[in-house]
Amino acid sequence: MDLNEHLTSQMAQRLFVTHPPEPRPSLLLSSPTEGIYVGKTRWLNVPVFWDYHKLINSHIAIVGITGAGKSYLVKTFLTRAALVWNSNAIILDWTGEYNKWVRQAGGRVITLGRESLNLLDLAGLKVAERIKQIMSAFEILLDLHNFPDERYEIEEALEEVYEKVKKPTLADLVSVLEKKKKKHSARLLKTFLVEGSDFFSRESTLELEKLAESGLVCIDLHSLPTEEMRSLTGLTILQFLKEKMRREELKEAKGIKLFVVVDEAWKIASDERSDVITIVREGRKYNFSLIVASQNPTDMHKTIISNVGTMFVLRLVLREYKDYIRNSLNYSQYIDDAISGFGVGDAAVNMIFSERSERAHTFLLDKIDGEEPLFVYTIKVGKMTIEVEREQFSRMLFELGLTDEQINLVKVEFERGDGVLEASAIVTLLEKFGYSHTSIMTFLRQLGVEEKFIVEVFSLTRRRRATKGVVDLKLKEGEE
Ligand SMILES: Nc1ncnc2c1ncn2[C@@H]1O[C@H](COP(=O)(O)OP(=O)(O)OP(=O)(O)O)[C@@H](O)[C@H]1O
Ligand SMILES: [Mg+2]
Repeated sequence: MDLNEHLTSQMAQRLFVTHPPEPRPSLLLSSPTEGIYVGKTRWLNVPVFWDYHKLINSHIAIVGITGAGKSYLVKTFLTRAALVWNSNAIILDWTGEYNKWVRQAGGRVITLGRESLNLLDLAGLKVAERIKQIMSAFEILLDLHNFPDERYEIEEALEEVYEKVKKPTLADLVSVLEKKKKKHSARLLKTFLVEGSDFFSRESTLELEKLAESGLVCIDLHSLPTEEMRSLTGLTILQFLKEKMRREELKEAKGIKLFVVVDEAWKIASDERSDVITIVREGRKYNFSLIVASQNPTDMHKTIISNVGTMFVLRLVLREYKDYIRNSLNYSQYIDDAISGFGVGDAAVNMIFSERSERAHTFLLDKIDGEEPLFVYTIKVGKMTIEVEREQFSRMLFELGLTDEQINLVKVEFERGDGVLEASAIVTLLEKFGYSHTSIMTFLRQLGVEEKFIVEVFSLTRRRRATKGVVDLKLKEGEE
């Protein structure tokens, strides 16, 4: 290597350390009527607009540890997409964390469990087509490839039940199998017929046809009794959306017609046979856009990670997860290091641009610049309920000395409970962060908790701890 070359490579390294390359601004900038603003690049402060015209497709994947800001990004995104393109959105909400936001944003929340979905509904399809779909869902959820006999028996029973029963349901299918003494097959399907829930075996009350055109819709799956039922419902709704997508005429309409959001979807995003993958593969033609979010990147099939036009990597810590993503996106060590040090809302963004001359880029975004409607938190203490605006509550926690990360852990607990939390849960967290009983009590008083309930909260936390077998502490005021 001659001196010149040596110097150039040294310079390049040094420049790189100062700041890794960012895509040229013309790829990121866009007018507010064409794209969605998400934040600014870390080094050059270029505003980043998500403009799918410039991207290879309109699908988005988001990964990051709990509290990193995935759902917040989704909410910001959908709010702006509705303003810019009047897009519809369907959120498959596994944990019930979109509920309140959707209601506040004027959307519709559909609580499954209360509403029902007849799995055997044809929804406009021919019997043979629907049977194929149902079998594909069963294959994913019941690992039917390990049970070829059962696979055959179930398929045969499906054909029979459609022939014999006028509006068959899953319960009818199980009784056909039982009558034929196909015990194991029947038992497999009973996973979806949890006692006390006839969710899959009543006539459908969900008007799937309308959902895709109703503005913002949250399908709350978390009220269903089991993970299997949630997954089967999620898969069924996706199958329906895929069919609807394929029926639409291909036209050069402006904007994205429908966003389908799948947040924490476990088997649904990791199985190649799932329609999540079909939507990723074909959605572009139809102006359908998929947004998949997960704490665990390995839950996302490689096809998703390597095919989505945009990937947001929020904070990740586990080596295994980081490697999984990095192997697909190929970014520098610099970015890999940055990802573990991210604060809430910071992101590494990978975009695949459609211009031929452009390669994929991964660049750093300094905190997603979001918007969410005002939120009120409800704290339950004994017979009391205390309401406090979220930002004010965060400020109080900040004044108490919590770090940003700790504040977020508290917020995540609230969001899990759809904005409602028992005071004892807050106490447990504060204890975990190392706060003394005295300062926790002062904090509760500041919140407006009555004295008699303060003692109650502590004894409740203490009892919980005792049942978990952790050393029980005596409680007197002033005890550290
Ligand atoms: N970019 C941001 N700016 C300001 N606040 C944010 C940002 N991102 C997230 N937050 C706040 O941090 C908290 C946690 O964010 P969020 O619920 O989006 O996390 P998450 O990644 O979806 O976590 P989980 O995996 O547990 O669902 C929320 O209270 C949210 O308001
Ligand atoms: Mg979330």
